[in-house]
Amino acid sequence: MRDLYLHDKIFEPYISKAEIDVAVNRLASEMVRAIPTEDTVFICVLKGAFMFFSDLMKQLGSGGRQEFIFAKSYAGTQSTGKVWLSELNADALSGQRVVLVEDIVDTGLTVNYLAGRIQEAGPLSLHICTFLFKAEVYRGLRTIDFKGLTIPNYFVVGYGLDYEEKGRSLPEIFKLKG
Ligand code: XMP
Ligand code: MG
Repeated sequence: MRDLYLHDKIFEPYISKAEIDVAVNRLASEMVRAIPTEDTVFICVLKGAFMFFSDLMKQLGSGGRQEFIFAKSYAGTQSTGKVWLSELNADALSGQRVVLVEDIVDTGLTVNYLAGRIQEAGPLSLHICTFLFKAEVYRGLRTIDFKGLTIPNYFVVGYGLDYEEKGRSLPEIFKLKG
């Protein structure tokens, strides 16, 4: 595969579609063994998690319910240190088993903030799931219950992840070159 030009930056192929599929399937099996997925509300954190969420839900079959929220903390290739969150449907989460589904957990700021907001809705339980996990830079205290792939501190795009709104639709993952 060739290098990819998005805005002013060059990205190189990093994680193939086949590797993504294997990781999603493994994660789905892990989840089915660990929690009653048919009786769970899955929250997709938009925009980034849309592709992973869709693939994961298809692996889980007919079970569960789906909710969607928007969150934003990145500008360009850097975290802004602040999290913006859209309206949360608290009624749909109260007393429910909830799984928060993220595209990537980096420092943990976003997931920590979102988990705090979800806890306020009074769920029966809350598990965190992320497709990518940057273990080296994670500073959160919360356990990440389900992880797809652990990666170094690379800036990545594709499979839902963007650089300034470009690259989301790519079926595989690219990393910033250099
Ligand atoms: P924190 O630091 O809050 O970051 O854990 C999580 C959120 O930041 C975005 N993010 C990325 N987006 N490539 C991206 O396209 C990356 O390498 C990356 N790292 C973090 C993402 O929105 C995530 O929810
Ligand atoms: Mg982004």
